[in-house]
Amino acid sequence: MEKYYITTAIAYASAKPHIGNTYEIVLADAIARYKRLKGFDVYFQTGTDEHGEKIEQKALAAHQEPQEYVDNVSQEIKRIWDLMNTSYDKFVRTTDKTHKEVVGRLFEKLYNQGDIYLDRYEGWYCTPCESFWTETQLVDGKCPDCGREVTKRSEEAYFFKLSKYQDRLIQYIEDHPDFIQPESRKNEMINNFLKPGLQDLCVSRTTFDWGIRVPFDDKHIVYVWIDALSNYITNIGYDVDGGDENFKKWWPADLQLVGKDIIRFHTIYWPILLMALDIPLPKKVFGHPWLLMNNDKMSKSKGNILYADELVDLFGVDAVRYYLLHEIPFASDGTISYELIMERINSDLANVLGNLVNRTISMANKYFGGSISNKKISEEVDQPYLQLLNSLEERVENKMARLEIGLALDEIFDTLRASNKYIDDTMPWALAKNEAELDRLETVLYNLLEGIRVCSIFLEPYLPDTAKEIQRQLGLSERTMQYVSTNSYQVTEPTPLFMRIDIPKKLAEILDNKE
Ligand code: MSP
Repeated sequence: MEKYYITTAIAYASAKPHIGNTYEIVLADAIARYKRLKGFDVYFQTGTDEHGEKIEQKALAAHQEPQEYVDNVSQEIKRIWDLMNTSYDKFVRTTDKTHKEVVGRLFEKLYNQGDIYLDRYEGWYCTPCESFWTETQLVDGKCPDCGREVTKRSEEAYFFKLSKYQDRLIQYIEDHPDFIQPESRKNEMINNFLKPGLQDLCVSRTTFDWGIRVPFDDKHIVYVWIDALSNYITNIGYDVDGGDENFKKWWPADLQLVGKDIIRFHTIYWPILLMALDIPLPKKVFGHPWLLMNNDKMSKSKGNILYADELVDLFGVDAVRYYLLHEIPFASDGTISYELIMERINSDLANVLGNLVNRTISMANKYFGGSISNKKISEEVDQPYLQLLNSLEERVENKMARLEIGLALDEIFDTLRASNKYIDDTMPWALAKNEAELDRLETVLYNLLEGIRVCSIFLEPYLPDTAKEIQRQLGLSERTMQYVSTNSYQVTEPTPLFMRIDIPKKLAEILDNKE
């Protein structure tokens, strides 16, 4: 079986994640489930990033020890990942003992081989981003990444010789056009960061305690990004001697998903760290766009944060998963609001999917007591419908291979729409009026049930519970991803999958509850 190692960024254990942070785990989950469906041996890793000055300060403000603080937040993050029904194989934490030990050793290895050296750092530091900047990198005197205040710092620090690897990295990126996706991010990295020249990176801190100590110089804490990035290898069995069988099986990662704000860390620092350790680079790093709230960045200060658990309470897990997976395009930001979610539920989940399943199962019950087999009375209208069904696997694969998840869902929903149209074209209720047409009627219902069955298999990665519920109602566990002419169905009573929402009424309720 071909292996597939997929990772998400590890979330800061600094606060409860909002729906934007939750997007990435759902996206990774849909891809991981899809690969499993296609027969890959998948390993899906996620987790929390728990060290650094910002977290130390948060713990202090909460009157907690940092360890206690991150234990709580990490657990909360895991709870939300579970609530979203994500099928990760391992949830890692940077405070795990093995991770800390391996990071210490790899830092020492890089020092011993001359890639890390001791010097002095003078510059500007942004605490929230945990990033140092030179005077010229600042924008209007503020952090160029987040626009917040920076403070002047001068300290003894270890530096990592990024510049030594810069040309090799440019060459690698140019020789591997799929390495950074989307293409626009690749151009941005090459033109804005690599071509102008890399400065050596400051990779240790002495101004706080909460982190991994440099083993040979314990005044210093390993820079949080070296600590965090290493999670992708330390947790699958890497060690400085080259790593164990498990590491050799899974590395290099097939896909590393990260948000657009941290693509620089993953396509410059991370590959250079791997090159210095003499480890192959991941096959693909995908910098996904962001989810905005009414077209604005979500933030506590703006009071416009939506949380996954609130949305799941209101609309159910699969509706929230559908919204995230369908509405955030491949290369540009998406937006979310209560109204938009409800509009999508009504238009796609209730009208297209729910309606199709409900109508078909109801007719199977009404006309044939729920038991349907293929009477093979074909008409011309059947062919294009069955062809569309048989091309679904390829159409979905084409989109998934390009990580165009929303478009893959569109292929499935187009097929569901075509199924609804097939009902309108064949008019089963009219056939039912004529005794002589009963075999034709049963054939039509058989084709529809097959359509729903095939679509339900392709829905599994995106809407796992709904797919399972559809299969339960169909009463059939056949797994073929194409139309099969010899199945027979004994369907259950129909149970609605998604209810249409009265949007103004529901919105008023939500706002009332908030006050
Ligand atoms: N801890 C670092 C990552 C280290 S990876 C070695 C970090 N953590 S984070 O909690 O701030 O972000 C986790 C992920 O969520 C990142 O990939 C980030 O881009 C993503 N998102 C944060 N806000 C988001 C949205 N509003 N929308 C979509 N993704 C968002 O960065």
